[in-house]
Amino acid sequence: MTVTVKSVPQGFLGATVVVCFSGDVGRLPADLRSAAEAATASDTAGESRRVVIHTGGKAGAAWLIVVFPGKTGLPRDAEGWMAAVAGTMAGIRDTGSKTAVFLLPAEIVTRFGATRAVELTAVASRLAVYEFRPHKTKGEGRSVLTSFDILLDDAKPKPVIRAAETAGIIADAVRLARDLVNEPSSVMTPDRLASVAETIAAGETGVTCQVMGPTQLKREGMGAMLGIAQGSDIEPRFIKLSYKGRSKKTILLIGKGITFDSGGISLKPTGHIETMKCDMAGAATILGIFSVLAKLSPAVNVVGLIAATENMPSGHAVKPGDIVTAMNGMTIEILNTDAEGRVVLADAISYAARHVKADEMIDLATLTGACVVALGEEIAGIFSNNDALAAALLSEAADWGEPLWRLPLADQYKDELKSNVADVSNVGKSRYGGAINGALFLKEFVPDDTTWAHLDIAGPAFAEKDTPLCPYGGTGYGVRTLIAHILSAA
Ligand code: BES
Ligand code: MN
Ligand code: ZN
Repeated sequence: MTVTVKSVPQGFLGATVVVCFSGDVGRLPADLRSAAEAATASDTAGESRRVVIHTGGKAGAAWLIVVFPGKTGLPRDAEGWMAAVAGTMAGIRDTGSKTAVFLLPAEIVTRFGATRAVELTAVASRLAVYEFRPHKTKGEGRSVLTSFDILLDDAKPKPVIRAAETAGIIADAVRLARDLVNEPSSVMTPDRLASVAETIAAGETGVTCQVMGPTQLKREGMGAMLGIAQGSDIEPRFIKLSYKGRSKKTILLIGKGITFDSGGISLKPTGHIETMKCDMAGAATILGIFSVLAKLSPAVNVVGLIAATENMPSGHAVKPGDIVTAMNGMTIEILNTDAEGRVVLADAISYAARHVKADEMIDLATLTGACVVALGEEIAGIFSNNDALAAALLSEAADWGEPLWRLPLADQYKDELKSNVADVSNVGKSRYGGAINGALFLKEFVPDDTTWAHLDIAGPAFAEKDTPLCPYGGTGYGVRTLIAHILSAA
C-alpha cells in the first residue's frame, strides 16, 4: 500500500472510499457533503461510531465513511490519534476498497501541526494493514488497499511531503521487526538473524556488519553467552552492525536475541512457553532500525549489538548452580536457567565496554515476566542511570504512542543478587521486584561512567490479541521511539 499526501481537490476525489471525520464534512466536495450532512444530522447520541454510506459515485467515490469521535472529541495524544486512524482502516477494509482518501481533520492539523499529523497518520495507516501470512496456505489477506491518500488543505510544503516519506520508512522498519518476531524459532535462528543483518549491511550504504560464532566468542572470553548457548543444537551468533553518520556522537543499541526461550533446565511450563519465539524482539527492533538507517541518514553514528542464541534444555545445557565467567571477568552463578537474557546481555554489555566507544548505551530486552506483572502487557519499563537520557526516551516514546514508564534502579536491593560462590547470582533471592533485579544485574556489567538505559519490553513486544494498529504477534515495539531518538541526536 502506498501512502501519499495531497491537497484537498476541488470537486472530484476519485477514490473508492473517502474517510471524513464529522467535524470536517464542510470541507468535502459539494455533492458528497449533502450525503455526509444527512449522516451528521442523525448524530444525536454523541456516541463514537463510524457511518458507512454508499454514495452512488458522488465526487468519484463509491463509499463515504463518516467518523464520529463521540463526546470525548478527537484524540489529544499520538497514541490516541494513531489508534483512531487504525480504527478507520478497519472500516475501509469492510468496504473492500482498493483506493482510499483520508481527509485529515483540521483540528488534528492544528493540534499536532501539519507535519506531525501527516507523519502519525501515514505510519498508523501502514501499520494497520500489516499482516503476517507467509505460512498461510489458505484464504486471503484482509486488506486489498493499494493506495491511501492523506488530504490536507496544503500538501505542498516540503516538510509535509518529507513527513509522508519518512513515515513510510519508519513503518517499514516496524513491519520488518514484526516479521522477524512472527517467524517461528525454527526459521528465525541465530544464524538467520545474522544473515538478515548481513543482507541489511549489503544493501544499505554506510552500514557494515560483523558476525561472530562460537570460536570467536570463546576467543573474546564470552563465557556467559556460551553458557546459555551450550544446551542448544544450533550455534549462537554475536552480531555487530555499524552505521557511520556525520557527527562524532555514537549511540549504542544492544538487543536480547534469544530465538527461543524454553527456560532451559528450569523449563517453562505450558502457558508460558508457547510465545517464546518472541524473546528476540529486542534484536528484531535493532534490525528493523538498521534496515532503514541509511534512508533516514541521521547525523549520529549508531552501533547495534545482538546476542543471539537459543535457551534449551539438553544433556549439554547449563544447570542451576553452574558458574560461568563473563567477558569482563565477573563470575555468575546461574541459579535459574530461565533468567538467561541477563546472562547473555552481561557479555554483550562487556563486549561494548571493551570494544565500542559510545556516548550512550541503550539495551532492549524481553527480560522479565515481572515487568509485565508491574506494568501490564502494553507498557514497557525503562531503567536508567541518567535522568536526561531517561527523560528523552520517555518523551520520544510518548510522541510515538509507545507506552513507557520509568522504574527505579533501586540500589537498596542489590544484596538480592549476592551469590555464595560466585561474584553475582543471576536471580534475586526473593520473588519480589523481579524487573528491578534484572536491571540491577545488568548494571553490574555497565561501567560507571557509561550513560545507560535498559528497556524491559517483555510486555509490549508481543501482542496476545489483535488491535487495530497491530494484529496478534510481534509489535515492533521500540522501533519508532529509538528512530526518533536517533534522529534527534546531534
Ligand atoms: N524471556 C523471559 C521473560 C518474558 C516473559 C518475556 C514474558 C516475554 C513475556 C525471561 O527470560 C524469563 O524467563 N525471565 C524470568 C526471570 C526469572 C527466572 C527470574 C521470568 O520473568 O520469569
Ligand atoms: Mn527465560
Ligand atoms: Zn528470555
